[in-house]
Amino acid sequence: MTPLRVVSGSANPRLAAAVAELLDVEPPGCALERFPDGEIRPIVGHVGGQDVYVVQPTSPPVNDNVLELLLLLDACRRSRAARVTAVVPYFGYARQDRRTRPGQALGLRVVAEAIAGAGADRLVVIEPHTAALESVSPIPVETLTAIPLLAERISPAHGGNAVIVAPDAGAVRLAERYAALTGDPVALVRKHRESETRVTAIELLGTVDHRAAVIVDDMISTGATLEAAVDILRYRAADIVVAAGHGPLTAAAERLRRLGVRRVVVTDTVAHEAVTPPFEVCSVAPLLAEAIASMHNDRPLHELFVRT
Ligand code: R5P
Repeated sequence: MTPLRVVSGSANPRLAAAVAELLDVEPPGCALERFPDGEIRPIVGHVGGQDVYVVQPTSPPVNDNVLELLLLLDACRRSRAARVTAVVPYFGYARQDRRTRPGQALGLRVVAEAIAGAGADRLVVIEPHTAALESVSPIPVETLTAIPLLAERISPAHGGNAVIVAPDAGAVRLAERYAALTGDPVALVRKHRESETRVTAIELLGTVDHRAAVIVDDMISTGATLEAAVDILRYRAADIVVAAGHGPLTAAAERLRRLGVRRVVVTDTVAHEAVTPPFEVCSVAPLLAEAIASMHNDRPLHELFVRT
């Protein structure tokens, strides 16, 4: 059988190492040369004839991490890997899935096509912001969900007395998938984004009734969406916790800390340094390892972890 190999970019080597350990394969090295003018040159080592999984979320610094991913894929192809899968747990540029003003680019499509052009045979993502990724990608996309892991981590604490809150209309499907696992009702915050960093809540649809509110979103960027949701829930909920698929928390951490939310559970699709309460990290390594093992053995992916 073709040997399985995990290759790590520099965006999240800890996650790549955890995945390799669960798969019981060689730990992924991560060799990256930097030229004095800022160019990068990653080196993948020997991958000839292997079934290679390149783990590289395109998290901040997004542009550097996208380019490194493309170079890694090209290096694998030129080293004659038997099959190359880009494992991009957090897919940057997914919010650019349509043009909102004349003169803009379609960033999602540009990045998806670049990944295929660089040499990936297949793409694996977790909770991408848009379902359009699969339609614009020239290569097959496996879309995984972290919702079961997040629900398992959070919900036992509320004993079936919670409301799952979508902090905007785009998060309703996510909240419904979470609620399908826990049996809780769903509520929705209608939001208005005034700027990149400022969001206001217009109204709450659904009843919270002093139960625990579990706010579920695909990602936290500046924290503006969550701040607006917490504002409207503050006097309606007995407790507020947050579950997010991706947490590039660097910019948002202080903002969320000030809100006084009891728990903010994010996954490690994006690398985190030391995390202190209220933040908690729920690792997606088991999810990726399970998916990679299935793909390597040409088995269907576990239905619980595939986003529909
Ligand atoms: C928006 O459509 C997304 O689902 C997230 O709610 C949003 O990107 C979060 O960004 P921020 O934390 O900056 O409000």
